[in-house]
Amino acid sequence: MALIFPESFLQEVMDRNDIVDIASRFVSLKRSGGTLKGLCPFHKEKTPSFTVSPDKQLYYCFGCGRGGNIIGFVKDIENLDFVEAVKYLAEQAGMDIPDTNEGGAANNAKLRRTIYKINSLSGRFFYECLHSPEGEEALEYIMRRGISQAAVNRFGLGYAPELNKLLDYLRNQGFTDDEIIESGMAVKNERGDVYDRFRNRLMFPIIDVRKNIIGFGGRVLDDGIPKYLNSPETAAFSKSYNLFGLNLAKSTKDNYLILVEGYMDVISLHQNGIDSAVATLGTALTPQQARIIKRMKPEVIIAYDSDEAGQKATQKAIELLAEEDLTVKVLTMGDGEDPDDYIKKNGVGAFRELVDNAKLQIEYKISKLQEQYNLDIVEDKIKYINELALQFAKIKSPVEREIYVKKVAQETGVSADSIFSEISRLNVISERKSRIDGFKGQPSIGAIRSLNPKKENALRGQRLALSLICSDKRAADLAMENLIESDFDEGLHRELFNLLMGIWRNGHTPDARIIVSQFEDSANVSRILHDDQNIEDKLLAMEELIRFFADERKKRNLLDTLLNKKASQEQTLNTTNKMFEKGGRDQ
Ligand code: CTP
Ligand code: MN
Repeated sequence: MALIFPESFLQEVMDRNDIVDIASRFVSLKRSGGTLKGLCPFHKEKTPSFTVSPDKQLYYCFGCGRGGNIIGFVKDIENLDFVEAVKYLAEQAGMDIPDTNEGGAANNAKLRRTIYKINSLSGRFFYECLHSPEGEEALEYIMRRGISQAAVNRFGLGYAPELNKLLDYLRNQGFTDDEIIESGMAVKNERGDVYDRFRNRLMFPIIDVRKNIIGFGGRVLDDGIPKYLNSPETAAFSKSYNLFGLNLAKSTKDNYLILVEGYMDVISLHQNGIDSAVATLGTALTPQQARIIKRMKPEVIIAYDSDEAGQKATQKAIELLAEEDLTVKVLTMGDGEDPDDYIKKNGVGAFRELVDNAKLQIEYKISKLQEQYNLDIVEDKIKYINELALQFAKIKSPVEREIYVKKVAQETGVSADSIFSEISRLNVISERKSRIDGFKGQPSIGAIRSLNPKKENALRGQRLALSLICSDKRAADLAMENLIESDFDEGLHRELFNLLMGIWRNGHTPDARIIVSQFEDSANVSRILHDDQNIEDKLLAMEELIRFFADERKKRNLLDTLLNKKASQEQTLNTTNKMFEKGGRDQ
């Protein structure tokens, strides 16, 4: 792990903040044994599966699998990067942030502030150009497209002139060429010439929820190519973590966000009083963006272009958004249209009607499948029902599932029972698959639950042992004498065992927060180190575990012998066990 802040500083930041305090701002926590429990702030749930350990200063959610130390929590909940999260916590504790000028992070933060300044000056410069004689053509274009002056102001639209005028202006303001290039406002060609990135374009500032201009999109005024040019990824701008219009949409009173494709769609909707519209930034929707939406609203309405590309993108977006447990609806317009065109043609009232009548994603999928298949043909009908069963299998609520099954049964004349049995067949397959996937690495919570109970028992024993070793010196001493590396599954468990033993052996006491921060999969480590929270007598628990591990060792040896004998006859058993071994290794 690259050291951005000195280790001692990180330690102090974590010492001077209490994860219970910070988490309590977002979750109401109730004590349950040694742990605090509450409704997870990262995903929707009705029964609490979010846990915080005051002793170890870790958190873990058994529902969504998020977990880590206090820095990770702040990172996730406030959508900050590591450095920002550390600073946030340092500020909370009234600490000075160390001046690590030769360190990349501080430089990065400084550069980012410089970029914000450059962007903000550029935005104002573009705005003034739009209202000067050279912006005449752009202003005409804006009017032709029906953008109001109020919208120009609200979105801070502008005009990027020709001839390196912005570059000259920024140089005059005291910025170096390097800084201007880093901001993405200028580019350097192979010959070393520096020139404006955006020339003769209508400019859309991209503004984050903290009101920083983080980048720009620029549209040609004619049919030129590329139609849109965007700022590159910079120290201040990441396309996958931001949405156009979110700075405004975050204050909407609507209970949903409307997700559209284009800058113009967002502007058009807001101008017409629909202030919940946001757009991705010229790329497909990312999981990070889905998460950002989820943190703002429980529902999202996809209103992508009605062309084929837009509909394909809709299907992909549905998957990502549903993954975040958002209620996902889809709004469809006529042929080849986008919201901007639609409103111009039919008025905003008609668009509002589309919003009100947006279909739940499952209904959208049903109607898409209906278009695809001719239900008068038997083969098509079978395919249609199979595809639907696949979709229905993903529905979590049994009531909702039944409603759709009955509906489809009625419409196809196939009995609800056979549709249900198709769904359970699919569920069995997907469970089997998730079991295999679970063994392949990152065991999802669902996968762990469906593991074979013996294997799961062994894993649980290992987790509990690791957490005891982490928190209790006497338990660690016992483990040192009685446990061996191979008692733990290869991979994470074994690594943790060796790490913890090493720390004790060197006369130190493990710090769960630091350990968590050293693993890529910090959520899983957090989960493991959490395990002993409700154990009162740690020594007794360790003694019990030592007997358990001894048993396991015996069983393993027995199994090995058995397997060798039966290898030739029992092909299937053998492969199954290989699968177990393989999964074990990654776990
Ligand atoms: N886009 C992009 N680069 C391109 C084309 C498109 O980044 N070369 C992104 C822009 O964010 C754009 C969105 O994709 O807003 C949707 O593209 P498109 O539908 O072509 O543009 P519209 O927003 O509909 O713009 P207009 O109405 O001006 O044609
Ligand atoms: Mn358009």
